[in-house]
Amino acid sequence: MRALTVVPGRAGSGAVRVVPEPVVGDGDVLVDVVRVGLCGTDAEIERGEYGLAPDGADVLVIGHESFGRVARDAGGLTTGTPVVASIRRPDGCPNCRSGEQDMCLWGGYRERGIKGIDGFCAERFAERPEFLFAVPETIADVAVLLEPLSITEKGWRHVGVAQRRMTVWEPRTAIVAGGGPVGILAALKLRLQGLDVTVVERTHKPVKEALLARIGAGYAATSVTPLEAVAARSERIDVVIEATGTSAVAFECLRLVGANGAVILTSVTGAKRSTLLPADLINQNLVLDNVLVLGTVNAKSDDFRQGIADLAEAEGRWPGFLGALITRRVSLADAARALSHDPSQIKTVVEMT
Ligand code: BGC
Repeated sequence: MRALTVVPGRAGSGAVRVVPEPVVGDGDVLVDVVRVGLCGTDAEIERGEYGLAPDGADVLVIGHESFGRVARDAGGLTTGTPVVASIRRPDGCPNCRSGEQDMCLWGGYRERGIKGIDGFCAERFAERPEFLFAVPETIADVAVLLEPLSITEKGWRHVGVAQRRMTVWEPRTAIVAGGGPVGILAALKLRLQGLDVTVVERTHKPVKEALLARIGAGYAATSVTPLEAVAARSERIDVVIEATGTSAVAFECLRLVGANGAVILTSVTGAKRSTLLPADLINQNLVLDNVLVLGTVNAKSDDFRQGIADLAEAEGRWPGFLGALITRRVSLADAARALSHDPSQIKTVVEMT
């Protein structure tokens, strides 16, 4: 079968190659892939900055944001069921053993399409049923957005747990740094939670401003208004989610949040950039304001399930919003060219058929 592949560590190696059919083990589910989303991590892998091929292989099938349909009855799933797969596969650590491989202790986890195990941008894949999430038909067209949403679902769940460190925390205002899919989906989650949200990105994109207005989220561009000035429009910022892919912005974000607030960092920055920082100011803010800073990566099954509920709720409240995030559809034959980051797009997906 055909698949979108890379040679990890070699920049520009993305290509559609013929790879072996998936091996369907006992109890495994064969999934016919419908579409796969491409993201910043795929672009990093394509630049040779990140990613690992399976043991003994040079080539990695890329793609971790999946949507497909069960090819034949298996694992309690019937033929045709729309499904999304999670990404991370456990090692034997105590967290992984209890289904929390997103909090792996030993670091021996593998990630489909990223680290040591082939991904989903192929005509078919086989998977254990416990790593597949059936989604309702009502959200089938947008379910490819479930994985990028699951990152915020996890971050928000963790903030909820950590903020029980105090008696009362009632967040009202949020800034999301980054207007890519993770940022926009983070804004959506926070809007569903009733927060007043502003999405900030570097250059002003009127289309995005209009799109975010549909869910009642504000928008600002740092080319026009510096990040701190955006924050100063509110009396206090309670939550900042950073999703720009740039570590320097992540550190800037640490200054924005007010008393007892939380900063969620989501960018996977595989390059080796350095930056100068106003370290005293940042540290002072974190300490004097009891700021919670947490990194979040990957997600567990609870987050995927919450994500399914949130996608369904968002479709009901703001019909068409999620679909509008998919701005480019390419065929598998053209997928290698779509791997590099294109700032004019929100979500690029590869359509298998
Ligand atoms: C994926 C995560 C993954 C992370 C690190 C992200 O793009 O969404 O699931 O854990 O990359 O590899």
